[in-house]
Amino acid sequence: MNSPQNLPQTMKAVGLLEYLPINHPNSLLDVELPVPTPQGRELLVQVQAVSLNPVDTKVRSPKAALETSPKVLGWDAAGTVVAVGLDCTLFKVGDAVYYAGDIRKAGSNSEFQVIDERIVGHKPRNLSFLEAAALPLTVLTAWEVLFERMGISQMGLDAGKSILIIGGAGGVGSVAIQLAKHAGLTVIATASRAETRDWCSKMGADHIIDHRQNLLEQLKTLGLAGVPYILCTNDTVGHWAGMMESILAQGVICSIVGTSQPLNIQPLMNKSATFVWELMFTKSSYQTEDMQSQHDILNRFAQLLEAGTLQGTLTRSLSPINAQNLKIAHATLERGTMIGKFALEGWEQ
Ligand SMILES: NC(=O)c1ccc[n+]([C@@H]2O[C@H](COP(=O)([O-])OP(=O)(O)OC[C@H]3O[C@@H](n4cnc5c(N)ncnc54)[C@H](OP(=O)(O)O)[C@@H]3O)[C@@H](O)[C@H]2O)c1
Repeated sequence: MNSPQNLPQTMKAVGLLEYLPINHPNSLLDVELPVPTPQGRELLVQVQAVSLNPVDTKVRSPKAALETSPKVLGWDAAGTVVAVGLDCTLFKVGDAVYYAGDIRKAGSNSEFQVIDERIVGHKPRNLSFLEAAALPLTVLTAWEVLFERMGISQMGLDAGKSILIIGGAGGVGSVAIQLAKHAGLTVIATASRAETRDWCSKMGADHIIDHRQNLLEQLKTLGLAGVPYILCTNDTVGHWAGMMESILAQGVICSIVGTSQPLNIQPLMNKSATFVWELMFTKSSYQTEDMQSQHDILNRFAQLLEAGTLQGTLTRSLSPINAQNLKIAHATLERGTMIGKFALEGWEQ
């Protein structure tokens, strides 16, 4: 390990031993853990801000399992590199970074975290640590959906085509609207409340329809017989029939929300349409050959932010990062009405 600093032996973290409802006093605990040592291509990052995603509440959801040592959640962070593994080539001590992380490993709700440099990006210079922490997981998801799973051209070759983004005001929807617009697409986002409609417009959506009403009928009122691309960020089963009838021939539907119920893809055959999953954690979980593309995506997104082409999605924040504030954030996300992202900053000294 290369580190010019005298690092502490232990650090503050928030973890769990039992999987409990968020209003239970022990659902999240303030704990003290050893500071990890980076190996190989790992960085040791001093975490300055973190953000919440529905994956935090899903992993924490009540179940009988017990942990023997605190399980740390959190898959979005921004901070500063304080040590590097011997094989690191992409970063040096002192670099400001932002990243989502690896679902198989300890999360970011700790003062220090080791993280594979191939899934880390340089923090956008024009964003605070708090604003930057709100982005990585949703950026990687939206980018991989549009440009990898759907194969939409980043060079504008698909300009003028339409995309339906179901759940436009959530974390992923907020970034997907912006990226799709940047690629030249016409964006139809869904929202069911005045606040979420306004937010989708602010993110750049051309049209807003309501995911609680028939999707195809609303597309028809916009003069569309269907769309070549559909991104589903909520209730895959509930929106299945609507997506089947709204996808155009040879179109692509991508969902980021899993289901335990079987899905009938037969209606896609006549249209030669595609259904594809996206899971942001696939690359790190399977150590895919293109894993370092997440480093590239985060760097490219940072450039677009710095150029003023895209905007951040932070809407709510708390300080410091501790169990009490993380409980508030978890409870807020569990209500299912988030607009943009919720982030936390700083540690109590
Ligand atoms: N596969 C992956 O890699 C990946 C990555 C990130 C997230 N996800 C998953 O994607 C989902 C969305 O996460 P997120 O952080 O983007 O957003 P989020 O914060 O969970 O989204 C909140 C928004 O969902 C909308 N919504 C509620 N019910 C809906 C419905 N029935 N249909 C459509 N929209 C509905 C609400 O809008 P209204 O108030 O207007 O109804 C609200 O603004 C979560 O299940 C998350 O676990 C997966």
